[in-house]
Amino acid sequence: MANLLAIYGSPRRKGNTALLLKRAVEGAREAGASIEEIVLRDLKMSPCLEIYGCKETGRCAIKDDFQALYDKLLACDGVMLASPIFFYTVSAHTKILMDRCQSLWVRRYWLEKTPFGKKEFKRKGLFISAGATRGKRLFDGVLLTVRYFFDALDMEIWNSLLYREMDFEGDVLKHPEYLEEAYVTGKRFIQALTGHDHA
Ligand SMILES: Cc1cc2nc3c(=O)[nH]c(=O)nc-3n(C[C@H](O)[C@H](O)[C@H](O)COP(=O)(O)O)c2cc1C
Repeated sequence: MANLLAIYGSPRRKGNTALLLKRAVEGAREAGASIEEIVLRDLKMSPCLEIYGCKETGRCAIKDDFQALYDKLLACDGVMLASPIFFYTVSAHTKILMDRCQSLWVRRYWLEKTPFGKKEFKRKGLFISAGATRGKRLFDGVLLTVRYFFDALDMEIWNSLLYREMDFEGDVLKHPEYLEEAYVTGKRFIQALTGHDHA
């Protein structure tokens, strides 16, 4: 059975990305996955302090809620991450998590000496995002950020669901087709992880 983490990165509990991720979780559960949901705003997590305590063991030296999440990130088969677009990148809650995962980057590239640019990844990630505007390049910045975040976790971006013109809480409810897409994608994510994706 696939074990996943679903990470809610918005400060809004019932915001657009949260509702989309919830549907993806429902789809993934329907496909048989076991999923733990993590709401970043509920965690006490310091930003990275750049002390590189992680250089010895690959584990972050700051003792807070990241420690338990670190173990979960190492143990899971994949991650579904949802974040709104804040100034063309992820939310601050999400960015704090990403920066704390520098410890995983150190582990992968400095301690385990993985060659840079390695194209095969053991695990997979799904990214869900929403922004208020409709610019063509709205997701350019975030996709680069998320790609290298997943890289540090030894994950490739398997897919991303990106929605424009979502501003107020609940705007996504006006688009049942987006929620349906999230549900189906959650299901397909598990099929891809377990090798049964023939779509
Ligand atoms: C601090 C902040 C920064 C934002 N920056 C952008 C932005 O750069 N581009 C954009 O299109 N929307 C921006 N937005 C709007 C959000 O991306 C949008 O409301 C989104 O639907 C929120 O998703 P959520 O409900 O999951 O939190 C910003 C909102 C906030 C609060």
